[in-house]
Amino acid sequence: MSTRTVIRGGLVITASDELHADVLIEDTRIAAIAATGTSAADAWTADRIIDATGKYVIPGGVDAHTHMELPFGGTFASDTFETGTRAAAWGGTTTIIDFAVQSVGRSLREGLDAWNAKADGKCAIDYGFHMIVSDVNQDTLKEMDLLVEEGVTSFKQFMAYPGVFYSDDGQILRAMQRSAENGGLIMMHAENGIAIDVLVEQALARGETDPRFHGEVRKALLEAEATHRAIKLAQVAGAPLYVVHVSATEAVAELARARDEGLNVFGETCPQYLFLSTDNLAEPDFEGAKYVCSTPLRPREHQAALWRGLRTNDLQVVSTDHCPFCFTGQKELGRGDFSKIPNGLPGVENRMDLLHQAVVDGHISRRRWIEIACATPARMFGLYPKKGTIAPGADADVVIYDPHAEQIMSAETHHMNVDYSAYEGRRTTGRVETVLSRGTSVITDREFTGRAGHGSYTPRSTCQYLL
Ligand code: URP
Ligand code: ZN
Ligand code: ZN
Ligand code: ZN
Repeated sequence: MSTRTVIRGGLVITASDELHADVLIEDTRIAAIAATGTSAADAWTADRIIDATGKYVIPGGVDAHTHMELPFGGTFASDTFETGTRAAAWGGTTTIIDFAVQSVGRSLREGLDAWNAKADGKCAIDYGFHMIVSDVNQDTLKEMDLLVEEGVTSFKQFMAYPGVFYSDDGQILRAMQRSAENGGLIMMHAENGIAIDVLVEQALARGETDPRFHGEVRKALLEAEATHRAIKLAQVAGAPLYVVHVSATEAVAELARARDEGLNVFGETCPQYLFLSTDNLAEPDFEGAKYVCSTPLRPREHQAALWRGLRTNDLQVVSTDHCPFCFTGQKELGRGDFSKIPNGLPGVENRMDLLHQAVVDGHISRRRWIEIACATPARMFGLYPKKGTIAPGADADVVIYDPHAEQIMSAETHHMNVDYSAYEGRRTTGRVETVLSRGTSVITDREFTGRAGHGSYTPRSTCQYLL
């Protein structure tokens, strides 16, 4: 006998439709959708009924860019897979794709095994992995083929961080050529790290050590230059390209131009670039360190280009790049030298709410909210329609969202394992009420009812978003 749940009376929103409908779930999957009040819907019997009258019924969020426990700058991102996925569930996200890391001199396999071990049995929601390729050589290129077959179908490369994750243009071209053959998707951290390191050294020599100089040396032009170069290398290789954490107007322009040429070039931005700015980086008493990430926060003027890109589909995805470091003891490593501040912001819990606020503020429609936060990331990374939509056969990853509830974001009330909120004191309209992960209620009327280990590893197909 299967367990039947019916969600009654809500407004079901997907990337393509909005309808007042009831949703029938059998065990872990969505079985049927029928207009509320029709004889079809009223005939359904259920073990459990969730009343969603006046609420939205939306697919669980797909956050395609997180870094739980990432080793960085001599420390580790402060959320584990356990705490980070629990916080994600609180925020209405039911799938994360995290980044396994290949260490220089080690195989991709060793990196992937290590990340599988960190996540196994810990996650509250489903998860998959991208692979950070730090060392492109003949062995790694062969391993990329195997990983694609196994469901790790995307690879991050860095044009930044020389000596750590950095790949040169030749290594990038080789990996792109390989992905053109095996169906993998290259995800690019597009910043000219060689030039940035020169500017870092010169700034520090001038005594410019405060957090705000992190933003000044990591110039928008150097993001645009690297974005342009990555696009051209992908074009030469005949490979698709996904540029992560786009923050600069000039970089959006590069993506828009490539897309107008019909290239398979895609762009992701993050809530921090849409809602925060260099004003935060300039906060006194070293508070600016809370906002150090790369690409960096930009002057407020850049936000308009990002919103426009999300409306014109020159940017397709909003992920968090969740990579939290506590202010005390971690961000503080960079007092007196901004280049030693661990890079990254917390946000996995805040993404769905901030993007709903963008709906309230008129930047995007409700359907676009679901598209950029659920459906497109699922398509981009080969999880659709299992994830990212509400449709018969899809996993029952469903959020009951109250569009009228007010909340104030704060470290006092959030569930991420980090001692500050990047959005402290921000008032937003809209709040997650209940979250189902494969039919299991992991948040129930604002109580955590999930468990570590409920979430399972989810292999992925290749990109389903190619033009
Ligand atoms: O500052 C950031 N973004 N930290 C995480 C690592 C990365 O580059 O995505
Ligand atoms: Zn990056
Ligand atoms: Zn365009
Ligand atoms: Zn990242």
